[in-house]
Amino acid sequence: MKHYTSINNIDNIEDWIEDAKALKTNPLKHIDLGKNKTLGLLFFNSSLRTRLSTQKAALNLGMNPIVMNVSGDAWGLEFEDGTVMNGNTAEHIKEAAAVVSQYCDIIAVRAFPTLTDKAKDESEQVMNAFMEYASVPIVNMESATGHPLQGLTDALTISEHATKAKPKVVLSWAPHIKPLPHAVANSFTQAMQKMDVEFVIANPEGYDLNPEITGDTPIYHNQEEAFKDADFVYTKNWSSYEDYGKVVNTDPNWMITKEKLGNAKFMHCLPVRRNVVVEDAVLDSDSSIVIEQANNRTYAAQLVLKKLLENI
Ligand code: CP
Repeated sequence: MKHYTSINNIDNIEDWIEDAKALKTNPLKHIDLGKNKTLGLLFFNSSLRTRLSTQKAALNLGMNPIVMNVSGDAWGLEFEDGTVMNGNTAEHIKEAAAVVSQYCDIIAVRAFPTLTDKAKDESEQVMNAFMEYASVPIVNMESATGHPLQGLTDALTISEHATKAKPKVVLSWAPHIKPLPHAVANSFTQAMQKMDVEFVIANPEGYDLNPEITGDTPIYHNQEEAFKDADFVYTKNWSSYEDYGKVVNTDPNWMITKEKLGNAKFMHCLPVRRNVVVEDAVLDSDSSIVIEQANNRTYAAQLVLKKLLENI
């Protein structure tokens, strides 16, 4: 594996999950692997979990992480070819990626979508530019269309908490006040499609995800029907894909409640808006596994970094 930018980079998810569990049992076992190696973390957007868990993962492997908030702290980056750079951008990605590659052995990047320009977002301009112009491996810390570190984390968490073969997993949309990206839902869908689970998606009409990603996965527009006999309910808001980036429904009846959840475990990538996306009674109950899920971010990232380091 040269880069980790998509759930599609995972060849065998069950093997990866077992490897991540082994790292969790003994996080410092490979402390010498990353000695004298530097991980650069470049953030175009905010983060709590990704920023800290990926640094922790690097430290567990003996790497030196260095972090930069690109938006605000770095020069404005230009991604278009042939531009006359007489506007707001001061440095081209061609130079920036080449320069950072001299300081870092692996570069991790977070760059959210515009949610206004579907074609641009789907082209994954930022992630692809780093892959093209950097000379070191690239890790996707959430791009326009995917969050594969989160998707791997979620697969690990479900594997740890499953109490039966082929559990039923529901990805449910829930309301939110702002238009949010599709990245988490996309990568979770791709991860579940690789696992031996019964996977369905529940969302209101107008919120179907990209059909190229959902494929044959059943989509319910009735949440109650989708939740029947669920073992895991993974909740996330996303904006409309069809009416790209728009909030077309904020129906509070889609909020996750204790009553709806039944005996299922509740998952969310966090951050989560309490009593908008999910009620307090769920997050404050034993049904919620969101804190353990966030803990697993470290071991998912550590596994990805380990695989990349072994290939350098
Ligand atoms: N789930 C997740 O990626 O969290 P952050 O945005 O805080 O990194």
